[in-house]
Amino acid sequence: MSSLVEKLEGALAEALTELADTTTVDAAEDIRIKYLGRKGFLPAAMKEMGALSAEERPEVGKIANRVKTALTDAIDGRLNDLRSQDLDGEPIDVTAPGRRVAVGHKHPLSTVIDECVEIFRRLGFVVAQGPELEDEYHNFDALNTPADHPSRDQQDTLFLFDGRLLRTQTSTVQIRVMEQQEPPVRIVAPGRCYRRDTPDQTHSMTFHQIEGLYVDKNVSLADLKGTLHAFAMELFGKDVKYRLRPHFFPFTEPSLELDVWYTGGGTPRWLEIAGAGMVDPNVLKAVGYDPEIYTGFAFGMGIERMAMIRYQIPDIRMFYENDVRFLKQF
Ligand code: PHE
Repeated sequence: MSSLVEKLEGALAEALTELADTTTVDAAEDIRIKYLGRKGFLPAAMKEMGALSAEERPEVGKIANRVKTALTDAIDGRLNDLRSQDLDGEPIDVTAPGRRVAVGHKHPLSTVIDECVEIFRRLGFVVAQGPELEDEYHNFDALNTPADHPSRDQQDTLFLFDGRLLRTQTSTVQIRVMEQQEPPVRIVAPGRCYRRDTPDQTHSMTFHQIEGLYVDKNVSLADLKGTLHAFAMELFGKDVKYRLRPHFFPFTEPSLELDVWYTGGGTPRWLEIAGAGMVDPNVLKAVGYDPEIYTGFAFGMGIERMAMIRYQIPDIRMFYENDVRFLKQF
């Protein structure tokens, strides 16, 4: 009898030492298998009890049960501890408040670009793109803007030494698309533009436009007005206050500008958000379209200006400062 009791007590002590050294849940589970598993120590010890006398058996049985309970409790307790430790073995405080994960989101300019694209997509326009690094032909010549035109002045355009330039307008994409396909054409082209402007409340050296071009048979000024009206109502809401003003662009005739009432900074006033007009026949000729058959309208809208109106932003420069206190609000 005494040898079996010694064995049981010895195994318990041994198991507790091993358990104290475990560092992983798996290791603690292995100890459970080793001592309590079907082929483990305890079932084997139980079998040995069959050889004991009738008086000894209940006595040893009690001890075996006590060892079993002690082992089970110790293993469960150790597993509990291990499961509530982090990888460095530090205890985990399950009552501590969670840590907020900082989730990024779209820049307000991207949101406005996406909304514009979506509105025009519903009106039947598809998205086109062109390079920001351009040549004079696509930025000026093909757009009926002769070499002596003031907008070609070094003061306004950022030129590279090799004569190429950073596009001053997305109208370049009109030309690139028409060079590639026959009418009908109905595209919008969002993208970045560059000008040698002096930064102020409504000007930045880099800004975004979304260009629109629709060329087909029988496209009229009424179609342009209808499109701009539908767009303004969609982006700014049914109560939008806007006006169309006659203007001049070398590549449209007639030309107009679209102003929207702005209350986001300083005295409420009209803010010019787009130039537009009927595509000049010279532009159609430059890309090989017959102006006797086709007409079209085009527009170029300023994304920053529209975002300023939309979100009541007092200064265009705020879009580029990357101040999280500003960006977090969108
Ligand atoms: N490209 C002109 C600008 O940047 C806007 C415009 C586009 C005007 C298309 C008419 C037609 O000012």
